[in-house]
Amino acid sequence: MPLSLSLITLCLVFVSLLSPVGGAVERRKCSHPAVRKEWRSLPHKERADWITAVNCLAKLPHDRMFKPSVNPPDIAPYNASGSLFDGIGSLTQTLNSLAKILFMHTWIHYTGQFLPWHRWYINTFDQALRSRCGYRGSSPYWDWTKGSPSPSSRVRVMQYLPVSGLGGWGAASTQYHVLDGAFSASSSFRPSYPYPHIMWRNYTLFPPLDKLIPIPGFVWNLSMPATDNFTRPVVEGIINGFEGDFRNFHATLESGPHTYVHLCVSGDMAGVCPVGAPPDCITAPTFSANDPLFFLHHAMVDRIWYKWQHKHKSNKNAFFGGSVQRLENATAFLRYQTGGPPFLSMDSVIPTNGLATSPVILSDVMSTTEGPLCYIYD
Ligand SMILES: *[C@@H]1O[C@H](CO)[C@@H](O)[C@H](O)[C@H]1NC(C)=O
Ligand SMILES: *[C@@H]1O[C@H](CO)[C@@H](O)[C@H](O)[C@H]1NC(C)=O
Ligand SMILES: *[C@@H]1O[C@H](CO)[C@@H](O)[C@H](O)[C@H]1NC(C)=O
Ligand SMILES: *[C@@H]1O[C@H](CO)[C@@H](O)[C@H](O)[C@H]1NC(C)=O
Ligand SMILES: *[C@@H]1O[C@H](CO)[C@@H](O)[C@H](O)[C@H]1NC(C)=O
Repeated sequence: MPLSLSLITLCLVFVSLLSPVGGAVERRKCSHPAVRKEWRSLPHKERADWITAVNCLAKLPHDRMFKPSVNPPDIAPYNASGSLFDGIGSLTQTLNSLAKILFMHTWIHYTGQFLPWHRWYINTFDQALRSRCGYRGSSPYWDWTKGSPSPSSRVRVMQYLPVSGLGGWGAASTQYHVLDGAFSASSSFRPSYPYPHIMWRNYTLFPPLDKLIPIPGFVWNLSMPATDNFTRPVVEGIINGFEGDFRNFHATLESGPHTYVHLCVSGDMAGVCPVGAPPDCITAPTFSANDPLFFLHHAMVDRIWYKWQHKHKSNKNAFFGGSVQRLENATAFLRYQTGGPPFLSMDSVIPTNGLATSPVILSDVMSTTEGPLCYIYD
């Protein structure tokens, strides 16, 4: 069965769970939510199951429903040639089909879509692992605050990687290719965007934020170690703070831990063009989901939102954000860190590039148990 069929099935299930106009169909109650757990707390068998399912997805043909909307229009085009071929042991593009949604990066970062969109996206990926590759566990998350207590130690980020099979860091001498774990150079895992390549990671303690996220007039603190921005006190401060204030909660989480983890892992996770990329490759978060670590990272971001939503009554349904990214200068950025007008409402549509057969709206993903979603975090 092609993925498109299963996705249609998936989406029909999804749609049937939404309250239709007239309210004739009830939402299915989420009585047994999946429990998302920290990667390192999973038995090795369960970690292996997830990895196997991801590798399975990465070998399936690309999904024809998927309609990439390239934004900005001048970045390297989406490569759909793999879609016509299946097998010969080569990686085709299902995983990358999902990843390529990140083309929409100007809509889903620094706008109100950031948290809702990524919640939908992780869930969609999780559903694809289940329906196409028989995965039975739940989406794992990576708690970046767990590890070495030393704030700038590499160990905190690395410690779990080789053990778990997700692989560790690349080295300069080998173009930062990931050489161990299940997605290494010696595996068949080859993300196809911006061109087929070996996944890479480049531990970066002081990310060049001024180059990666240039905002005229905005001064990044380039001497702050990335790891200082995702410590336990920082994350607890975010979860416990900002009572009822979604805007500043979101802005601090997105610009802070979320961004620094991407940039600290670097390589594919930061959307940095690999060595040898074609000239039309532009470093941008268009392909950060090439690295399966992306899904563990964003599950953690989602978990922080979930924990915050459960912290105070006034947080539960709090939302404030616009639909337009405003990075043109520091004034605009600081005023509209969660997007400029037109502002989004609970009826605003989440961009899905064809991966959902009917519109998904913000209110569908505000709760992980009271709408079509059905999971909790431990
Ligand atoms: C597109 O992907 C296919 C399959 O991975 C690959 O053979 C081809 O070289 C790619 N084309 C470009 C322009 O990267
Ligand atoms: C890898 O990271 C180091 C800093 O940690 C940086 O100097 C170097 O340019 C990076 N290499 C690539 C190819 O991005
Ligand atoms: C930048 O970060 C460093 C390290 O955390 C800190 O010592 C310094 O005070 C910061 N600079 C500014 C201008 O905030
Ligand atoms: C994390 O990074 C953000 C954005 O650069 C900065 O405003 C904030 O002060 C940092 N947090 C800590 C605890 O260093
Ligand atoms: C920032 O950009 C806005 C337009 O997006 C402009 O109106 C404003 O003058 C700019 N501010 C500065 C300080 O350049």
